[in-house]
Amino acid sequence: MAIGGGSAMDTAKAVGIIINNPEFSDVRSLEGVAPTKSHAVFTIAVPTTAGTAAEVTINYVITDVEKKRKFVCVDTNDIPEVAVVDPDMMSSMPKGLTASTGMDALTHAIEGYITKGACAISDMFHLEAIRLISQSLRGAVAGTPEGREGMALGQYIAGMGFSNVGLGIVHSMAHGLSALYDTPHGVACAIILPYGLEYNAPAAGKRYRAVGKAMGVEGIDSMSDDDAAKATIAAVKKLSADVGIPADLKGILKEEDIQFLSDSAFADACCPGNPRDTNVEEIKALYRSMM
Ligand SMILES: NC(=O)c1ccc[n+]([C@@H]2O[C@H](COP(=O)([O-])OP(=O)(O)OC[C@H]3O[C@@H](n4cnc5c(N)ncnc54)[C@H](O)[C@@H]3O)[C@@H](O)[C@H]2O)c1
Ligand SMILES: [Fe+2]
Repeated sequence: MAIGGGSAMDTAKAVGIIINNPEFSDVRSLEGVAPTKSHAVFTIAVPTTAGTAAEVTINYVITDVEKKRKFVCVDTNDIPEVAVVDPDMMSSMPKGLTASTGMDALTHAIEGYITKGACAISDMFHLEAIRLISQSLRGAVAGTPEGREGMALGQYIAGMGFSNVGLGIVHSMAHGLSALYDTPHGVACAIILPYGLEYNAPAAGKRYRAVGKAMGVEGIDSMSDDDAAKATIAAVKKLSADVGIPADLKGILKEEDIQFLSDSAFADACCPGNPRDTNVEEIKALYRSMM
């Protein structure tokens, strides 16, 4: 049984894979798409945060403390057989953890909706997840049962989507910050998300209207594409600010780490899914814009 947040569930997924695929006993050999032959040991996953959806995804994320990086393993053999998604298991989360894990879930839904591999089926999951999360996160942070319930379902539905199609550079760039500075994953995602959306607008901006609509942005149907994209990004920023997430990486990101972080982000398994083709120089500029 894997009971806990994404860190506990991901660890359990890696352990379950290695037990049944002992030739991959060094977890580093599982980075990216790993050609394992056997399914992980039978696993029941019980999330206690409302964010990662690790209970339903084909991914697990491991921190390599020696190399100061996090890496993503992608393997259909790691999906738990049973997921017990119960908001009562999440009710002990303090406000800050509720907010950051909830913004991680919103990031999954939005990055999953604009990722290169998005399709009609994943769109369905992502738009419903965006609607539920936008409607529920403020309430969940305030501790209402309806908010907690909406977040438990919303984060899970987001996982049903992105697990099939991938994410983008918001996740690629977030992973390094957690490995280097211990920034909580959801905080890193939430801070980077609006910057990532602005950067990706030339490639995916036309899709932002549907995101804004799912978030409940008023009057978005009658806006130009450009205004609809701006209103959507503003709604993301407002939700993040309302739940207490900082607006930038001031006090977190150090100039001397930008090269290493950008190289890591470009090599990250989530990067190829980004809707706009990118490179290390552009990722460096994006990090700098957040300082
Ligand atoms: N597998 C995936 O598809 C996937 C997707 C996104 C993120 N991740 C990974 O998941 C990890 C983050 O997981 P997370 O955001 O759930 O946080 P976490 O699992 O790291 O937990 C954060 C802290 O909250 C505590 N905690 C957990 N549940 C609690 C509860 N109900 N009440 C009080 N405290 C509680 C934990 O003990 C820990 O101290 C990162 O490594 C991230 O990269 C995985
Ligand atoms: Fe995430």
